[in-house]
Amino acid sequence: MRIGILTSGGDCPGINATIRGVCKTAIHHYGMEVLGIHSGFQGLLDKDVEVFTDKSLSGLLNQGGTVLGTSREKPFKKKGVPADVNKPALIQQHIRELGIDCVVCIGGNGTQKTAAKFAAMGVNIVSVPKTIDNDIWGTDSSFGFDTAVTIATDAIDRLHSTASSHKRVMVIEVMGHKAGWIALYSGMAGGGDVILLPEIPYKLENIRETIMNRIKRGKPYSIVVVAEGIQTDGNRRAAEFIAQEIERETGLETRETVLGYIQRGGSPTPFDRNLSTRMGGHATELIANGEYGRMITLVGSEISSIPLEEVAGKLKLVTEEHDLVVQGRRMGVCFG
Ligand code: F6P
Repeated sequence: MRIGILTSGGDCPGINATIRGVCKTAIHHYGMEVLGIHSGFQGLLDKDVEVFTDKSLSGLLNQGGTVLGTSREKPFKKKGVPADVNKPALIQQHIRELGIDCVVCIGGNGTQKTAAKFAAMGVNIVSVPKTIDNDIWGTDSSFGFDTAVTIATDAIDRLHSTASSHKRVMVIEVMGHKAGWIALYSGMAGGGDVILLPEIPYKLENIRETIMNRIKRGKPYSIVVVAEGIQTDGNRRAAEFIAQEIERETGLETRETVLGYIQRGGSPTPFDRNLSTRMGGHATELIANGEYGRMITLVGSEISSIPLEEVAGKLKLVTEEHDLVVQGRRMGVCFG
């Protein structure tokens, strides 16, 4: 049996560990052949592949990024594609010509949607959820999230000392796309005083009150953690908007930091390495059992899988009832 493996969408820590988990299990345990597909679905359009051997997998466990390269190619998007070009059919033909019995897709929400469409066309496909944003429906966690939260928490810790020395308000913007998971987890782990999430509407007067009350209680500085996806005036990015509004409302010296791609780069945490290894191994096991059209999940502490059509098009968002939000509120954190 021959499998092909690709990584699609934005990169994140743990992809290489997942590739290693899939391929080592395939080669050592099941005696399968593995083709690495370069640059996501673009590699299937171009037939840009390499044969993976045990040697290709050396040093991958702790390496950031993806050795396969990635792209945001969406083969089912019709916009800008000439009417006589049928990318999905071309990819299906190339998969056949390359002798690939099943494709393993490592990707985020967009990739799960694409994988579900290929599965519906009858292509043998298994996918692994990947994103720092943790917004993929059906899995408690995706690898990359723990690493991003660790990096963001470290940044918040570092902002505390400079905020306190200068008696400033420090606003830090973290990633997450439309979801507030990174902001919630790093904000709570880093002891943020205000944590703003796209899922919870905020009022500037509540933020002002929280900061001014801290001053009254002898705490002349504040840490404000904002998710990139919060509502702004549409002209300024989240950190800039909130920092300027806080300064205007309170008259306090306020600074902003946008953490950016640092959250996505570098080595995965031990938790993410093990999650990647387990998810990758389970993906290969599904293939060996002929169970296609499924996405690997982590539910509680169990690695399992669900049909791709159940995942496609859904987002997992933070809710008011999440225990970190409830506990944060009890401890005086302002969520808006
Ligand atoms: O999905 C991961 C993510 O890093 C988001 O948090 C962020 O909004 C987006 O990707 C950035 O994407 P790009 O790599 O296209 O700038």
